Amino acid sequence: MIRCRRAAGGNSASKVATYGTFLRCDSPSFTAPLPTCRPGHVWASALDATPIMFDALRVTSSQDQQGTRVGVPRESRDGERRVALVPKMVEKLTGRGLQVVVESGAGVGALMPDELFIEAGATIGDPWDADVVVKVAPPTDEEIGRLRRGSVLIGFLAPRSDPEIAGKLRDAGVIGFAMESIPRISRAQSMDALSSQANVAGYKAVLLAANLSTRFFPMLTTAAGTVKPANALILGVGVAGLQALATAKRLGARTTGYDVRPEVADQVRSLGAKWLDLGIEAAGEGGYARELSDDERAEQKQRLTEATSGFDVVITTALVPGRKAPILVTAAAVKGMRPGSVIVDLAGETGGNCELTVPGEVVVREDVTIASPLNLPATMPEHASELYARNVQSLLELMLDKEGRLTPDSDDEVLVRSCITREPEGDNR
Ligand SMILES: NC(=O)c1ccc[n+]([C@@H]2O[C@H](COP(=O)([O-])OP(=O)(O)OC[C@H]3O[C@@H](n4cnc5c(N)ncnc54)[C@H](O)[C@@H]3O)[C@@H](O)[C@H]2O)c1
Repeated sequence: MIRCRRAAGGNSASKVATYGTFLRCDSPSFTAPLPTCRPGHVWASALDATPIMFDALRVTSSQDQQGTRVGVPRESRDGERRVALVPKMVEKLTGRGLQVVVESGAGVGALMPDELFIEAGATIGDPWDADVVVKVAPPTDEEIGRLRRGSVLIGFLAPRSDPEIAGKLRDAGVIGFAMESIPRISRAQSMDALSSQANVAGYKAVLLAANLSTRFFPMLTTAAGTVKPANALILGVGVAGLQALATAKRLGARTTGYDVRPEVADQVRSLGAKWLDLGIEAAGEGGYARELSDDERAEQKQRLTEATSGFDVVITTALVPGRKAPILVTAAAVKGMRPGSVIVDLAGETGGNCELTVPGEVVVREDVTIASPLNLPATMPEHASELYARNVQSLLELMLDKEGRLTPDSDDEVLVRSCITREPEGDNR
C-alpha cells in the first residue's frame, strides 16, 4: 500500500514549501493547497482519490515485512507473445529481497514456462495485487480495474496514441510509468525500451522483406549465371532504420539510407550504406524529426518518388512523435518500382509511410508487395522479452532503495518524465 507524504512538520513540510505545490496527506485533517505544481512534479491518486506526488510513495508495512511485491501478468492483447520480466531478471529482483508474483502462463508465449520463473525465485499467483505491476502492452479497462489503488504500473502505456489510459489510471489511483516516455539520455539507455524493441523490428522487417521478395538479396555467382544484389532503401534512419540497414547489408544487399535529420548521414555511411541526400532538413527537438511544412512535404514526395523507382526493397520507419506518420512512398512511386519489389512499412500503427499501405496486412499493388506488420517485436518473443525485461528491471531499480523498498525520487528526470499520471505537461511521448 502506498501512502502520501506526511506534509506536516520537519523535512516534509519544507519540501512542500520548496515545491510550491499542493499536497495532502492521508490524514483527513490535513490539507495544504498551494495552487501551482512545478512542471515535473507528479500527481497520483491516494487512497481517497486525492492527488499525491509520487515522491510520496512510502515504505509500507507490507514492504517492510515482506519486500516490495512485483506482479507479472500474462499479456492479453491479441498476438502479444512477450512477457515483461524473464527469469534472469526475476532472479536479480528476488536477490534484492523483492517478491515476484507471476501469473501462470505469463511466459508461455516467449517459451518460458512457469517452472523457470519458480526456479528464479518467483511464485505463481495473482499479479494484480502487487505493489508494482509490470506489463508489456497497454492495459485494458478490465486490467486497470484489477490494479490496486496506490500501486505502480510500468509498461508501454501509450501516452500519446491513447491518452485516455493515463486518465483511467489516475482515476484508479494507480501511478503509471510509460516506457515510451523514458528520456533518450545516456543514463537511461538501459531502460530505453523504444530502442530495444525498435532493434527487433528493424531486423525482422528485413527478414520479412527477403521472404516476400521474388529476388535474392546477395549477389550470386553460379554456374547458371550471375545474380545482381538487391538494392535496398531504408527511409527513416532512427534505431529501427539503422538495424534494418545493418541487417540488409549482412544479407548482401546494396543499401541506401534516407532521413530528414542530417546528423544521421555519418551513421548511415558507417554501416556501408549510401546516404540519399534530398536537401530537406527537419531536425526537431530531443533528436527527433519535426513535422515538415506543406512545401517541404510536397518537395520531399516528388524527389522520393523519383528516387524510389530503382530499388527492389524499401523499408520505411519514419515517425514524428505525436503525429500521423509522414507519407514517403506515394502511389506513383509504387507504380514506378519494378514488379516483384517489396515495401515493408513499419509505421502502420500511425497510418503508414506508404500511401497504399493497409496497416496489419500484406497487399499487392502494381505487382509490388506492401507489408505493414504491426507489433513485429512480438514475433521474436524470446529476445524481445529479454531486452524489454532488462529495460523494466533498470527502471524499477531506479525506484528502489538499498533494501529493495519503493522510494522513487521525485526530482529524478527519468522518473518525472516517464510518469504519465501527473498533471499534463506536454512532452510525454
Ligand atoms: N540513448 C540515446 O541517446 C538514444 C537512444 C535511442 C535513440 N536516440 C535518438 O532518439 C531519436 C529518435 O530515434 P527513433 O528511432 O525513436 O526515431 P523515430 O522512431 O521517432 O523515427 C524514426 C526516424 O524517422 C525519421 N523521420 C521522421 N520524419 C521523417 C520524414 N518526413 N522523412 C524522413 N525521415 C523521417 C526520424 O528522423 C527518425 O530517424 C534519434 O535521434 C536517436 O538517435 C537516442
